[in-house]
Amino acid sequence: MTIDLIYKFFCTTLYYVNDTGFLQKRNVNKYKKRDFGQMISFNVPPKVGTEEQYISEAIQSRKICGDGQFTKKCNAWLEEKTGTAKALLTTSCTHATEMAALLADIQPGDEVIMPSYTFVSTADAFVLRGAKVVFVDIRPDTMNIDENLIEDAITDKTKAIVPVHYAGVSCEMDTIMDIARRHHLLVIEDAAQGVGSTYKGKALGAIGDYGCYSFHETKNFSMGEGGALLIKDKKNVERAEIIREKGTNSIPGLMLAHLTCQASLMQRICGLSLKMKMLYLMIG
Ligand SMILES: Cc1ncc(COP(=O)(O)O)c(C=O)c1O
Repeated sequence: MTIDLIYKFFCTTLYYVNDTGFLQKRNVNKYKKRDFGQMISFNVPPKVGTEEQYISEAIQSRKICGDGQFTKKCNAWLEEKTGTAKALLTTSCTHATEMAALLADIQPGDEVIMPSYTFVSTADAFVLRGAKVVFVDIRPDTMNIDENLIEDAITDKTKAIVPVHYAGVSCEMDTIMDIARRHHLLVIEDAAQGVGSTYKGKALGAIGDYGCYSFHETKNFSMGEGGALLIKDKKNVERAEIIREKGTNSIPGLMLAHLTCQASLMQRICGLSLKMKMLYLMIG
């Protein structure tokens, strides 16, 4: 419908520069009405029919902030499918990557290697921490980071490699993990577009230290907006949960939240508020 309107708008209002250099209105009669019924829908959010029922269940349960029963089910499903120690739903892949940057303790001046072709969020998460982004060229066949160029980009300031599995096509992860191991670097996978994809049988996002998923409306699994952080190693789970929960380790009541705030400051963990909102989850 929207495309139809945009198309009509262009067909009926577009001007062009004619041979004499003047702006001339197009001859709109030249354009026949197109049959958009023949086209494959692109980025139209799915509707499976259970959305209203789940929203109603959540409202009836009187628990409508994040991390209710549906979030827990979703986290558990992702952990089972990916084989990671923990999956945490977040508000977006952008925020999952910001969490990963905090967990990786990225500091001003650190260098982070990533492909020169990606969505801007991949870089933003690290630039926000003061890191220098080092772009590495991509392979023409996969459009992903060229694993053979990574080692040349490593310096003594390099802290992490961020492979991006563009369009769900996996990067050459064996080589990347081997480089990371030899140079003691962290690997944070931007698997925004790779939910459900695998590399040699392993889920994308579950191979590096951290993996970031997107559930944006344009992605394989859509909830309007949304994301998830996958954590491979159990030892990083508690810190991740604290960061996601505003720097506190539990909020059963306001009183305890204030106490835990002091505790989190003592642990030097500053947090964000990145739990997925109930309504997005129901729609997803
Ligand atoms: C490669 C990549 N990384 C990150 C993102 C950001 O995802 P989100 O919209 O869930 O923050 C996108 C979104 O298009 C993406 O394509």
